[in-house]
Amino acid sequence: MSINNSLKITRLFEPRTVAVIGASSNPNKIGYTIVKNIVQGGYSGHVYPVNPKGGKILELPIYQTIDEIEGEIDVATIAIPAPFVFDVVKACAAKGVKYLSIITSGFSEVGNTEEEKQIVTYAREHGMGVLGPNIFGIYSAAVSLDATFGPGKIMAGNVAIITQSGALGIAMIGKTATEKIGLSAIVSVGNKADVDEADLLDYLTYHDGTKVILMYIEGIKQGEKFIKALKEATQKKPVVVIKSGRSKRGAVAAASHTGSLAGTDEIFDAIMRQCGVLRAESLDDAFSWAKFLADTPMPDGENTVIVTNGGGIGVMATDACEKYNVKLYDDLHTLKQIFSPVTPDFGSTKNPVDITGQAAPNDYNSALGAGLKNNEISSMIALYCETAVFDADSLSRMIKTNYANYQAGQKPIVFSILGGEAVENSITTLRKEGVPIFADVYEAVSCLGAAYKWRSYLQDYTEEVDTTAMDINAIEQIAQNALQDGRTFLLADEAQQLMAVAGLPMPQSHVAHSLDEAVRLAEKIGYPVVMKVVSRDILHKSDAGGVALDLDNKEEIIDAYQAIIQNCRAYNPQAVIQGIEVSEMVKSGTEVILGARKDGAFGPIVMFGLGGIYVEVMKDVAFRAAPLNRSEIVSMIKEIKSYPLLLGVRGEARKDIESIIDTLVKLATLIRQSKSITDIEINPLMVYEQGDGTKAVDVRVLVSNVEKGNPNG
Ligand code: COA
Repeated sequence: MSINNSLKITRLFEPRTVAVIGASSNPNKIGYTIVKNIVQGGYSGHVYPVNPKGGKILELPIYQTIDEIEGEIDVATIAIPAPFVFDVVKACAAKGVKYLSIITSGFSEVGNTEEEKQIVTYAREHGMGVLGPNIFGIYSAAVSLDATFGPGKIMAGNVAIITQSGALGIAMIGKTATEKIGLSAIVSVGNKADVDEADLLDYLTYHDGTKVILMYIEGIKQGEKFIKALKEATQKKPVVVIKSGRSKRGAVAAASHTGSLAGTDEIFDAIMRQCGVLRAESLDDAFSWAKFLADTPMPDGENTVIVTNGGGIGVMATDACEKYNVKLYDDLHTLKQIFSPVTPDFGSTKNPVDITGQAAPNDYNSALGAGLKNNEISSMIALYCETAVFDADSLSRMIKTNYANYQAGQKPIVFSILGGEAVENSITTLRKEGVPIFADVYEAVSCLGAAYKWRSYLQDYTEEVDTTAMDINAIEQIAQNALQDGRTFLLADEAQQLMAVAGLPMPQSHVAHSLDEAVRLAEKIGYPVVMKVVSRDILHKSDAGGVALDLDNKEEIIDAYQAIIQNCRAYNPQAVIQGIEVSEMVKSGTEVILGARKDGAFGPIVMFGLGGIYVEVMKDVAFRAAPLNRSEIVSMIKEIKSYPLLLGVRGEARKDIESIIDTLVKLATLIRQSKSITDIEINPLMVYEQGDGTKAVDVRVLVSNVEKGNPNG
């Protein structure tokens, strides 16, 4: 987003003035609730209720029209029925309003797309941005503005929420209140007719008061723009995403594996990982992570230690660490040095450190204190199973003290405690006080896992994009020729030409019309070669004896040429033989499939998988959005389950993974730079041993004149 747009979106989050159109003195109406929330929320700017009836609402004078208001209006919140919205939008334009927040439902979500488009076009033409329609509004702590019809009393804090679902958003406001999660903003995007998540990220990414961004997404409209904004955001702060709904866009009319192999959700998932987003499966996880990440210092290393008073719960935590990629400190010598002074002889100083069921609050204090002091340990998981040694009060005190110490020492700690009613009550109370404490070990560990995931993303991140130089005009020409011929696919020879221009030569192949020519061609291509009859009258070439493989020298060419002619004459004496095709013999290797396509939702994406049954049956493929760099490609290749086959199993040599990466860089370059290519799929690409390269055996290319996956598409 340009600086101008960034400045502009600031006006949506930090308006100096807000008009509420449809402000009603009837407390049952949405227009009333919005004014009430703005007033009770303590908005630092000026609010102007607007209603043709005039009068007063909550001591504020009501303006009959927006143009009666003196001075500028930054945001107009519109809460009147759909048929009247457009007229009001025109009045807002005349007034020079900067943003419209259209609460009203009854537009594209119910098929009334035309009117929504008219409104947005008109607004844009008059320099107004549109939030919504079909939203609950916007809350922004920066100016204490609650211009929503939510339950009010939003607690200010440092988590920002963007939600596509209004109803869920309102429920989230309630949930954040009970969970004591303070919000820096909550914005409903509704139909996303104009302002979308990416625009909002442009503000929230650079908003100092926002530490974590949480997004609820149902579908993506402008994937490329979104991906760019997300990558920028995750450089600055953690972004947690919950996505529901499986859009069919990507799968519809998918003519290639790249389009049909995975549901859009799998592509979404892959792209979120690529962007460093923390994807949560449930609202509970999303809230726990957001709260934890907003409040807790980031770990400065990878060594986590579990302290427990029970073996079982320690094992569960170990499993959870494996699940969420939390690395347990395993230097037994140092662990012993640190923890033996605080562990009974019958306990264990291995990780989990078991201070045993007889551990009293002081024992926890000593063990957790030792962990806090040691610089080798970067984070702590504290577990407690209810015992008779503790009463609930001392348990709560011990946890609060240690949490405060860890916060002061800038080291993350999570707690999981298990027990009866008293323990449950402690959890409720401590959570309200902001302590990351859970009954479920997995929930506790998942919070740490989220922190480590973001940390490792940042460590691996590079802004680099890898591309290959290629003559894209020549490629476009090939595609345009096919389109002018009325085709949306390339013929075999066109596809071969295209591949050659892209630096991905396919097996050479030429048609010989005489024995001499066959020998010349074979020598030009290089032995071994394959020969095949070329005849419209012979469909099943092998059955007719029209194919000869693995020909190694001139003599074999002469014999095979004559044999093919004789066999085919005998097979079908009437057949017209156009010639004999002489092709490079492709050595067999490990077959992989590579694809690139312009996805309707996500823009250019690339795909990788192992060929044969791995792709057909197991759908073992991985996706990434382009542009991308080599390390992103490496992570994509490693992601498939059959990756060990490329490393070489059972004494086989490692395959030429570098060459696969090169090929994917070329495909990514091609799909991004070519306007007309919509899909390209190499299947199979033969991969040889390391150093011996790869060979594209077959390729399929689809072309179109309609630009797909573009930001306005
Ligand atoms: N300018 C200003 N005020 C106007 C107006 C105009 N051009 N036209 C009408 N009004 C006033 C009305 O007179 C009324 O005030 P009153 O109570 O003093 O009579 C007020 O605006 C609201 O209009 P009303 O016709 O009573 O509508 P409503 O309040 O029943 O419904 C919406 C309006 C926007 C709430 C409704 O159309 C809607 O879309 N509801 C769904 C909202 C929603 O769920 N959004 C998504 C959330 S996630």
